[in-house]
Amino acid sequence: MKITVINGTEKKGVTYHLKEVFLDQFRNDAEFTDFFLPRDCPNFCTGCTTCFLKDEHLCKDAEYIQKIEKAMLDADLLVFTSPAYVFHTTGAMKTMLDHFGYRWMPHRPAKEMFGKRAVIITQCLGAGGKSAAKDIKDSLSWWGISRIKVCSFKLMSEVHWDKIPDKKKAAMTGKLVKTAEQMRKTDFSRPARTGMITKMKFYAVRMLQKNLGKQDPEYTDYRYWKNNGWTGSARPWKQ
Ligand SMILES: Cc1cc2nc3c(=O)[nH]c(=O)nc-3n(C[C@H](O)[C@H](O)[C@H](O)COP(=O)(O)O)c2cc1C
Repeated sequence: MKITVINGTEKKGVTYHLKEVFLDQFRNDAEFTDFFLPRDCPNFCTGCTTCFLKDEHLCKDAEYIQKIEKAMLDADLLVFTSPAYVFHTTGAMKTMLDHFGYRWMPHRPAKEMFGKRAVIITQCLGAGGKSAAKDIKDSLSWWGISRIKVCSFKLMSEVHWDKIPDKKKAAMTGKLVKTAEQMRKTDFSRPARTGMITKMKFYAVRMLQKNLGKQDPEYTDYRYWKNNGWTGSARPWKQ
């Protein structure tokens, strides 16, 4: 199986070590592609809207974005990690997610995403880990992913991995190992089932796209939906 990991920080701190514990459970039978942010997506979206209105390949940062996109579409499992920074995901992760605005369902979601599984690992000193995970989950769910597992931790005292008390470390790593073990029972050769909420979002956007298409049949997003057959009877979770 293939696992693509998007690390929301380059630091080899607590987030990194927790993620390694999770990935260790897959070492024997998985191929990994790792991206570290901001290194692998260093530039902000400037809001030029070229990706939305014309073509994502014309983005000034397409060389970074398309590499990440390819690895995500090829993967059986996506892993996203982030510490909480001021109650949210890191700026580096947000920067990368902004670049994938064109993949949100109201625009041009990739059909492959509807069958993907994802894990989000966040941690923080006291509070903000859950909202950091939500920042990431919002994008993933609007990309079309239904199966998203969140593992979020509060350290409550020491923030240096080597100094975290053994009992605390064991509680966190135990949860990650358990999550990985459950996940290893999954048949990754089959796409994940698309959930009801994702389908409802799809149908709401489908109605929107059909209306937009009546006003302008050349509109980029409408043409994408039409070419995929989604304004007709085709569905991304059945392809
Ligand atoms: C800029 C910045 C903002 C932070 N904001 C929060 C926060 O809102 N809530 C919190 O509990 N911890 C916060 N922290 C602490 C980190 O989440 C915590 O130290 C975490 O363990 C760092 O993970 P790392 O070792 O992977 O870098 C912040 C740290 C930094 C550098």
